[in-house]
Amino acid sequence: MNFAIAVPIGICYGRVANNLPPPTTAVNIITTNGISSIRLFNPNPESLQPFSGTRIQLAIGVPNEDLPSIAAGTTTTAHNWLQSNIFAHVSPDQIRYLIVGNEVFLKEPYYTSHVIPAIFNIYQALHILNLTDKIKISSAQAASILSNSYPPSHAIFDPNILPDLTRLLRFLHDTSSPLMVNVYTYFSYINNQEYVTLDYALLKSGSEMIDQNLVYENLFDMTIDAFIYAMEREGYGGIRVVVTETGWPTAGGEAANGENALVYNGNVVKRSLNNVGTPKRPGIGVEVFLFDLFDENEKMGNEFEKHFGIFGINGVKAYDLVLY
Ligand SMILES: *[C@@H]1O[C@H](CO)[C@@H](O)[C@H](O)[C@H]1NC(C)=O
Repeated sequence: MNFAIAVPIGICYGRVANNLPPPTTAVNIITTNGISSIRLFNPNPESLQPFSGTRIQLAIGVPNEDLPSIAAGTTTTAHNWLQSNIFAHVSPDQIRYLIVGNEVFLKEPYYTSHVIPAIFNIYQALHILNLTDKIKISSAQAASILSNSYPPSHAIFDPNILPDLTRLLRFLHDTSSPLMVNVYTYFSYINNQEYVTLDYALLKSGSEMIDQNLVYENLFDMTIDAFIYAMEREGYGGIRVVVTETGWPTAGGEAANGENALVYNGNVVKRSLNNVGTPKRPGIGVEVFLFDLFDENEKMGNEFEKHFGIFGINGVKAYDLVLY
């Protein structure tokens, strides 16, 4: 019998927009829709405060810009940062993860050397507060830290970031914390249409790929297992993977529409709730944070980057996603 509790379905609450409802309204939308887990990219007091006293568990980003000073400081520096940016606004009971840096390795070379020292100082500060069992620390990385991901069993991390990455993996192993990765099968689909079918990216079962006697029916599982194989190759076989961003846009690009977004996010949610796991780790649900609560109209880059919202700014679902 499997009595495993389903992993929570989280949603990213990105705020790079000038037309969002006030945070108190956003928190109402979140609670009335039964969402129990939220990722905040930075601990802005105005958006953090309204979560206080709710049942919502939070994954809070320590912004890249804050890493150098936390890394260069002492445990006290980290303690003061946590106190004034986070614990002054919400109770430690509500914090599930601290995400120290977002997509730093490979993409933000300036911050790379600050990630691990910042993590150590924050860990020491939490340790003094007896919070290291409750609050897990990691750092969210882009999927591009894998220089090869196909087939999954051949996956390897980019050699350029390996020294920092192995220090991160050792920390994650020693503290029972997860590897955090941002995974968009949408990007793989639009950039490699000759190899990746839409159905494979949308997690619709269809074609099968066999690797090491394991049967893969979608690109999401292949990507998660690629990370697991790549970690094994570095000697870390037991680290859990949390997907800190995944989603599908509703406009602004090839195959970007509400229908596909519903299929993709619906399949991801169903697999998490049912603890489906991946071929390499069957029955172990992958915790995900869906991107994004609302469209973000001030996002840079491709037009579709602005259109990941699951909810309209009026609080009505952009498509009929069932979250529980
Ligand atoms: C530390 O926290 C744990 C729960 O995470 C608790 O059981 C324990 O009593 C705490 N220790 C102290 C010294 O407060």
